[in-house]
Amino acid sequence: MPSTRTIEVVATASDLFHAAAEEFVRAGRAAISAQGRFTVALSGGSTPKALYCLLATNYAAFDWTHTFLFFGDERHVPPNHPDSNYRMVNESLLTKIAIPPENVFRVPAENSDAAAAASDYEAQLRRFFDLQPGAFPRFDLILLGMGPDGHTASLFPDSQALDEQSRLVVANWVAKFNAHRITFTFPVLNRAAEVMFMASGADKANMLRQVLEGKNTPPLPSQTVEPSDGRLLWMLDKAAAAKLTR
Ligand code: 6PG
Repeated sequence: MPSTRTIEVVATASDLFHAAAEEFVRAGRAAISAQGRFTVALSGGSTPKALYCLLATNYAAFDWTHTFLFFGDERHVPPNHPDSNYRMVNESLLTKIAIPPENVFRVPAENSDAAAAASDYEAQLRRFFDLQPGAFPRFDLILLGMGPDGHTASLFPDSQALDEQSRLVVANWVAKFNAHRITFTFPVLNRAAEVMFMASGADKANMLRQVLEGKNTPPLPSQTVEPSDGRLLWMLDKAAAAKLTR
């Protein structure tokens, strides 16, 4: 079980992004004062875009020079592709803050060989965290979303990457998209000092109840994220939390 699981419910989507931004900054300031740097893996999709915009506008004075940004997953597309998580983060955050380019670690998803892109990114992680063979990086914060099917990062139900226990980053074939995704594996997610899920809107309510209160066999990917020595925080708005019973 994780050290702690907290479910925070706020009224609106706007409240959710403000609360998430405050938590991001709190965790960042704590990490920088404790160890001189803040390592974060960002989530993709559409929900977090508003968080990134808020961080860019309201927290431009945050200590971005000691912050190191990674991507928990990426689509198998070039960085300027409309589906690229990097493109979304670049437009909503990176172009608006004073973060040194060398502090941002982009997945080389333009590589037509998805497995090679994953290996390259894994090597970047190993170098940055100076990892011994078999060791996993401990991110100060990993941001995650939850898809309507219970996936998180690019760990989709019934996909091969769910069983990966030794690699840090893999190329995961996602049948429903007929495409690869590049994704962190569960060992990396579950090594984090803190994982913050963000879920907003009524379309997530049914799945959230399953993930947070249901017993599923096999467990849904979002249920499998339980940092072994870290904080698990679910940040929800009321609409997303509407079906929860406690
Ligand atoms: C991605 C994300 C993915 C996302 C969920 C939820 O690359 O799409 O990493 O895991 O977090 O699909 O997306 P929304 O929060 O936008 O619904």
